[in-house]
Amino acid sequence: MSADTLSNLKIQIEKLKKDFDQNQQINADKKLIYLGKKGLFNELSKEIKNVSNENKKVAGQLLNELKTYLQNRLETNSSVDHKNKWVDLTIPGKDQESGHVHPISQAIEEISGIFQKIGFTRVRYPEVDWDHYAFEALNMPADHPARDEWETFFVKVPPNKKMGKVVLTPHTSNGQVREMERLKHQPPIRMINIARCYRRQQDVTHTQMFHQFEGLVVDKGINIQHLKGTLDYFAQEFYGPGTKSRIRPFHFQFTEPSFEVDFSCHICHGTGLIADEHGDKQKCGLCKSGWHEVGGAGMVHPNVLKAGGIDPQEYTGFAFGWGVERTYTLRKGLNIDDIRYFYSGETRFLAQF
Ligand code: DAH
Repeated sequence: MSADTLSNLKIQIEKLKKDFDQNQQINADKKLIYLGKKGLFNELSKEIKNVSNENKKVAGQLLNELKTYLQNRLETNSSVDHKNKWVDLTIPGKDQESGHVHPISQAIEEISGIFQKIGFTRVRYPEVDWDHYAFEALNMPADHPARDEWETFFVKVPPNKKMGKVVLTPHTSNGQVREMERLKHQPPIRMINIARCYRRQQDVTHTQMFHQFEGLVVDKGINIQHLKGTLDYFAQEFYGPGTKSRIRPFHFQFTEPSFEVDFSCHICHGTGLIADEHGDKQKCGLCKSGWHEVGGAGMVHPNVLKAGGIDPQEYTGFAFGWGVERTYTLRKGLNIDDIRYFYSGETRFLAQF
């Protein structure tokens, strides 16, 4: 009977070993299952009480051997993966994926830096603002047809008697009179206002939410040459040496005179022509005319200075404003044919910047 119990124990030991070797779980789990307090080894060890006294010693030895077997296996396998596959520990680990600042935020930082170098102060004004700052104070009274150009979103809240309706700012020009008020109507003013703007338009060159930057300078004796110098400076800093600016007559209610601003094309250097592989001159594919239109500018209208509490007899100023997205996509080598990509959340696109 006792011999039988011993051979029975031997069979069970072999079974447990086999079971252990075939078990695919990770070592930590295996340790618990086989060598844990309530594990299979301890369970099997209880059998020793059924073994006759004369065989107890042998049984004890067999169980000890089993324990060593299990321990050794667990130790030698502890650094390899749970399926006991061979692993090359010299392979470099995987890099953590990390995000980065959005390309438009990068452009905003760069634009701020360029203007801060020549003494402009970066400010931000509300993106949900009163009609007063977005239109009325900018020489565009209610029902003025010029307002139509701004495709404005109105917010459904009761209007204020003095300030009018609430709008999602369609341009950063709302910051002009706000800045005059912030400085208590006391020039000099040198502001760069960069903020989100909203308009009811969406296509390859427009998104309903976009960014603009707005410059405003007011002081004694400010004239068009100061404006032109500032535009040339920006063109060179942002697009590289040799880039020129050009101003063309235009109309805005809040500037007089008003201009549209162009920058020379960096591909054809403002000529509108590039040589093909035979050396023949062809129309430049990027600009077609040598110039890119970017935005508006002008000398601040006396009515706008008055709305900001500044005497137009004593002070003059210039202003300019245009879109960050457009300014940025004109940069050399970018070739972005649809600005909606910027806000698509497509990380394969954004990771390139
Ligand atoms: N706010 C104008 C727009 O969104 C652009 C503009 C034109 C800004 C002339 C100015 C300016 O400061 O002087 O189209």
